[in-house]
Amino acid sequence: MIVANWKANGDTQKNYQWFKTFHSLVDTKVLSCVGISPSHIHFHQLKTLFQKTDVMIGVQDIDIEGGARTGSISASMASHEDCSFSLVGHSERRDFFNEDNELIGKKIHSVLQHNFKAILCIGETLEEHKLGKTKEKLKSQITDSISKLNIDEKLIIAYEPIWAIGSGKTPDPKEVNSIHEFIKDVVQSATANNFEPKVLYGGSVNDHNAAEFFNKEYIDGALVGGASLDADIFANIVNTYRRLKKI
Ligand code: PGA
Repeated sequence: MIVANWKANGDTQKNYQWFKTFHSLVDTKVLSCVGISPSHIHFHQLKTLFQKTDVMIGVQDIDIEGGARTGSISASMASHEDCSFSLVGHSERRDFFNEDNELIGKKIHSVLQHNFKAILCIGETLEEHKLGKTKEKLKSQITDSISKLNIDEKLIIAYEPIWAIGSGKTPDPKEVNSIHEFIKDVVQSATANNFEPKVLYGGSVNDHNAAEFFNKEYIDGALVGGASLDADIFANIVNTYRRLKKI
């Protein structure tokens, strides 16, 4: 799966141009593996633009419940609008909005209860990376948020080293591959049904480095921020994925 994370970017006109360019360049056989998470305000525009395709349209965050929670969108509201997935626990949410693993666990629970996909984002800081604490950090992010939950294929993990997000720096794909294998093991042991999730890589993915990641056994796709705002580049990434994963 290749997921675009548009963050707080886009406007009606730009989104329309993006759709036209992307649709003309992408290999349409692979569209069922593509997800786009625009801002909430553009969710319906994207749903309408892609309505004749299998592209999944999702949201970047969800609240744990509805009602008197000004500014929020609940999982129930999202599921009524046929939302395909929600990112959960992106490092920017953890950092700017003080989200912790406990809250993130509740968000995942809420999403899964409402029958759409949750993409749990995890990753270490540069300091943790340098101190060799990456695995320790990832393990606690996983177990503290999902160990009490009933997990199924609707849970996807996105490994995003914080120091690689928006920085143009990426870890060695071989290293990422072994971290993904580790993440799959941790999720398997943290879940009663030994569930093995799909694991996406995120952090400065572009159309020049995507192939090195998609060549690796345990890298099941990508979560793409900055490069997904350019429809040509995002179409190239998706087409590379189809070619290398033989979809
Ligand atoms: P980036 O962002 O591709 O711009 O590094 C990834 C993300 O934040 O999900």
